[in-house]
Parts: sequence; structure tokens; C-alpha cells
Amino acid sequence: MRYPEHLIEQIRAQSDIIEVISETVQLRKSGRGFIGLCPFHPDKKPSMNVNPDLGIFKCFSCGKGGNVITFLMDKQGLTFTEAIKSLAYKANIPLPDDQEVTNQSNEVYNRREAAFKVLAAAGKYYQNTLHSPIGESIIKYFLGRGFDISIQELFGLGYAPDSWSDTLLEMQKLGFSEQALEDAGLILRREKDGKPYDRFRGRAIFPIHDPLGKIIGFGARRMNDDDNQPKYINSPQSLVYDKSKVLYGLAQAKSAIRSEGKAILTEGYADTIALVQSGFTNVIASSGTALTIEQLQLLSRYCKKLYIVYDGDSAGIQAALRGMELAVETGLDVWMVTLPEGEDPDSFIKMRGPDDFRRALRDAKSFLQYKSDALKKQGLFDTASGKAQAIRSLVETIAKVPDTLQHDFLIQQLADSMQLSYSQLEKVYEELRKAKFSLIKNDQQKNIYPDQILAQEHTEKDIISAQETSSSYIKVFPEEKEILRIALTSDNALRYMTEVLGISKEAFLSPSASRLYQYTLDIYIDKGDTILIQHLTDRNDLPEDVRNLIMDIVFLKEDISANWTKFKVEIPQENVRRALMESLAKLRLRHLEIELDFLRAELKQNPHNEKEQQIMMRLQEILQERHEIPMKFHTSLI
Ligand code: UTP
Ligand code: MN
Repeated sequence: MRYPEHLIEQIRAQSDIIEVISETVQLRKSGRGFIGLCPFHPDKKPSMNVNPDLGIFKCFSCGKGGNVITFLMDKQGLTFTEAIKSLAYKANIPLPDDQEVTNQSNEVYNRREAAFKVLAAAGKYYQNTLHSPIGESIIKYFLGRGFDISIQELFGLGYAPDSWSDTLLEMQKLGFSEQALEDAGLILRREKDGKPYDRFRGRAIFPIHDPLGKIIGFGARRMNDDDNQPKYINSPQSLVYDKSKVLYGLAQAKSAIRSEGKAILTEGYADTIALVQSGFTNVIASSGTALTIEQLQLLSRYCKKLYIVYDGDSAGIQAALRGMELAVETGLDVWMVTLPEGEDPDSFIKMRGPDDFRRALRDAKSFLQYKSDALKKQGLFDTASGKAQAIRSLVETIAKVPDTLQHDFLIQQLADSMQLSYSQLEKVYEELRKAKFSLIKNDQQKNIYPDQILAQEHTEKDIISAQETSSSYIKVFPEEKEILRIALTSDNALRYMTEVLGISKEAFLSPSASRLYQYTLDIYIDKGDTILIQHLTDRNDLPEDVRNLIMDIVFLKEDISANWTKFKVEIPQENVRRALMESLAKLRLRHLEIELDFLRAELKQNPHNEKEQQIMMRLQEILQERHEIPMKFHTSLI
């Protein structure tokens, strides 16, 4: 449900971030704030900073940052609403039993609560049925698969009776409405008269839990050999179940995942349970869907290292490759486990035992190795053009790693395995980078070299969407941070920037900076320019890179410009303005330098380019503008 914003603000403001974080992290005073070991990555010396005045935290080592609400969400895997409830409870703020919430969201809220209750009751009912006489053969089936009674309990396995209405009647007897059953996905309706009947009939039940262990849906396996029926049917998308955001087995595995710092991802319910039964407790599944970014982001709250173990058939490999790219992009350290063709983790461990599976984990391939092996298998390395294509595609994957510090190392690794020189690959990488940069420039400049952009075998849309998803690939320049910091923290600065200087998001080179500026503008237009920072950190829909950038800007340890220290204390407007102008000038210069590089390379590559004339003219303009920058920005400091 949606709480009114003033209430969220009140809860955030009255929550003691130090107290909340202290529940899991030992904090000690340092400077104006507190520091402690970061709980989001293995931390040897305290790199997490908490600022009680602003109500935010930031780890300087892994980059994680946020406010008290996001801390709870990320650390304990709570949803936004759950975090709000928990904080309101602690701070003794009564949550309006919904009078203040709009009627509509109130209704949705109540329906969701009812659906959760009926799901819990149904889960119990299926379990009871499993242990009743009609469930005897199903228990045998589970035991036959190697799932002992305690594992059956742990995963809440059950049996849905082979009937059209047993579950429905039982739930109605317990007082649940048809609406609740429908919202919970437990019933379907006959076409001719809308009469309800049970969705799950005569099937083994695998409850699907949220990270806190609440049932949100079911997977149900066929118990006969009728190939006309799907092997598994699952709860539909509903008010309470969104399969793209759920990881099967996470509730059971989360503490092991957290303490081991890694997770094993499988494709199926049975794979997960079989591995847990064999002693691998950090296992989850994507449960009946292609892996999504949301699932990976959820996982990355618990660990940074991921083993993907998909089926050894070609569909499995394709799915693994797709999932791998997304996992790389999410910033996970991804390792790929290959199983013999035709095996899934469940059958593998049954046949070969846990030691062999451990060995398979140890032999896991890096994402680069796995992808290049797959491309080789597709025959791409048989021709020169195929090889070039493969290399470009591998470099693109490297560019997706959000931690840009790894790029050098990965390029070197790729060069070694391809027997190419580092500088050859670096060139490919730079090309790719330039193609992205060039898109950020204004239209007039774009018109000069549209061909280059297309020559990268991308449509503009591809590149922009690649930027959108792996934006941290392009770093944020110090002067961009300074501009944003001034915009966010100095009175009237944003107004001056937009109304007097006319600065729009296009002024920024880095997509993350550009987006943060746009978010800031949106909030400014919406709410005025007081406590912009607070409004920004309160938004729980900001993309990760933007959130991290905000934290960087607010906590930045080293001062970006010498001037900053001076105006930090009293913020004399004149100094702010000067620092702003200096940074804007630097940023404009950087735009020009990049374009210059680009045009020069263009001339060198095609000396008799038909656009030579045009390019030369643009070069002249750039040189001229570069010359005028200090005057234009009233600064002599660059
Ligand atoms: P698989 O077909 O590999 O089944 O589907 P499995 O996990 O090996 O199942 P068992 O061992 O025969 O019991 C992998 C996953 O894909 C989803 C389920 O989540 C399943 O666990 N799936 C599969 C469906 O949702 N529907 C189907 O009809 C089949
Ligand atoms: Mn299987």
C-alpha cells in the first residue's frame, strides 16, 4: 500500500539511523558521524559511514549507500512497506489504520492482506493433506526423490487433492471470501457461468515464499504421466505474486547465502531442494521464469558471488548465457557451472554425489571463459569476421561490469586467452566507449558523424538502452560531482543553474550524473529547492547508480575543489558561484576535448573523407570555443 509522503517523511525523520544500524553493525564515533564494518560485503576495516544528521549511510569500499529505510530493505530483505511498518513500530508512530490512505489503495492493501492469509491457510491445508491417507503415495514420491521428512517440512511441501473444489470449500469453511481466493490465485472460473474451481488439483505442492518466509504462491507438479498437462503449474501473477521478483528458496537459504557470501542458482524447485538435502544450503531457483534483473538485485542484497548451475541442454545453456549477462551487469561476481548434457543439478547429485558437485563448483568457469567457449561452439572463431564479432561481444560484456576498475584486468585476461595484445583489445574497448560518449552530445554535433555511431553495428536505441542499464560503465567526472553537489546542497543554486545559466541534463557527460540532475530538477519543480537531498534519498525508486552517486556526493571524503572547504562552513554565495562556474567550465572543456579526439581520429582514419570540410570547420569552432571558455565562465582558474 502507499503511505502518504508526509508520513514516510515523519517516520524517516523520527527514526534513529544509528540505533537501527547498530542492531546489526557495531558503530563508533568518527568525525561528524559514525563508522563500522560494512555488512554488505566482507569488510576488514570499517568502511561504512553513517551520518545521523542527514540520516544516511555509505560504504566507501563497496559503494552501498542509502537511508534508514533502504538499510532495512537491503540488510533484512524487507519490502518498502515492511520497512516502514517496522520503523513506525519502533518509533511509536501509529500507522493510520489506513484512514489517511486513499480509499483505493486501502482496498488493495486489505485485499493483499486477505490473500496472504488465505495463502498461509492453503499452505497448511496442502501440508495436512500430504500427511493424510490420500497423501501417502505423495510422501513416498518425495522420499523416492531423496527429500526426507525434515526437508519436506523445511520447504513446506504438500499435496493438493485431486478434486475440483476441496481446497475451495475448505478455505470457505475457514471464512475466506471468493475474492480472497481469486486474489491468491487459488481458483479459476468456468467460462460458461463463472463458477469457481480449484487451480491446483492432484499435484505435489511447492510453496513459494517471500524472503521473510511468508507464502506468496505455489508451484504444483503433475503426479501422473499425462503429457498433455504441463509438468508444473504455478500461481499466476497477482496482487501478491510477481514471479519476476521472487527467488525460490531464498527464505530458507538467505542466512547461509549471507554467511558464505555466495549463492548457487538453479533452474528448478526440485534442483534447489535436492541440493539443500545434500548439504548445499545456499541454493535458490529462478522458479519457472527467465532470470530477471529484479531477481538479481534482490540476490545482491545478500551476497556478491553467484554460481549459475543450469541444465546441460542447449536451452539451459542459452538461458544460462542470458542470465549471466544480467548478473554481470548487476555487479555480481559470476561463475558458471557446466553439467553433462542431459543432467540437471538434481539428477547430477543423485548420480554422482555431493563431492562431485563440489568439484563442479570448483571447476566453475568465469563469465568470460564461459561466453567465449559458447561462442567458439557456435563456430564464430572459424572465420576472421566471426572472430572479430565474438571479440567485440566479449568486450561489450566486460564493459557491463559496473566496477570499472576491473575493466583493465578483464581486458588483459581476455587478451591472454585470445592470444591478442592488450592494446588491440583496448582499442575495441575505446571504440565502444566513444560510441557511447558521442551520443551524449548535442544534436548539431551528432549530425556530423552519425555514421560512426551506426558503424558500431548498433542502432542508437541499442546504445542508449545499453547506457541505461550499465550506466556506471562511464564514470562520473569530479567536476560533474561538484556541480551536482552545489545543486543539491546550496540554497538557490539549482534555481540559478536552470533559470540563469540554462543548464539542462545534456550538460553532463556521464549518464548517471545526467540522470541525477534530471531527478533533482523534477523534485525542484515539484517541491521547491529546500532539502532537495532529503527528498531525493527518500525516493525509493531511484536507480542504484543514481543513489550511489548521491551518496558519493554527500559523503565525498576528499574535497573536490580547494574552494569547497572555504564555503562549506558558511557558504558565501560568491564562492559557491565561482566554484560552480569553474566546474562548468571544466566540464565544457571536457566535452570539447572528447569531440576533438573524435574528429581527429576521424580525419586520420579517412583522410579524404567527403565531410573533411565540415569536420575542419567544426575543429576550428571547437578550438575557438576552448579559447573563450575562461571568459565565458568568468573564471581564470582553469
Ligand atoms: P524442468 O522441466 O527442468 O523440471 O523445469 P525439473 O525442475 O527438473 O522438475 P522435476 O525434477 O522433473 O520435478 C525447471 C523449472 O521450470 C519451471 C519449474 O519452476 C521447474 O522447476 N517449469 C517447468 C514450469 O514452471 N512449468 C513447466 O511445465 C515446467
Ligand atoms: Mn529435475
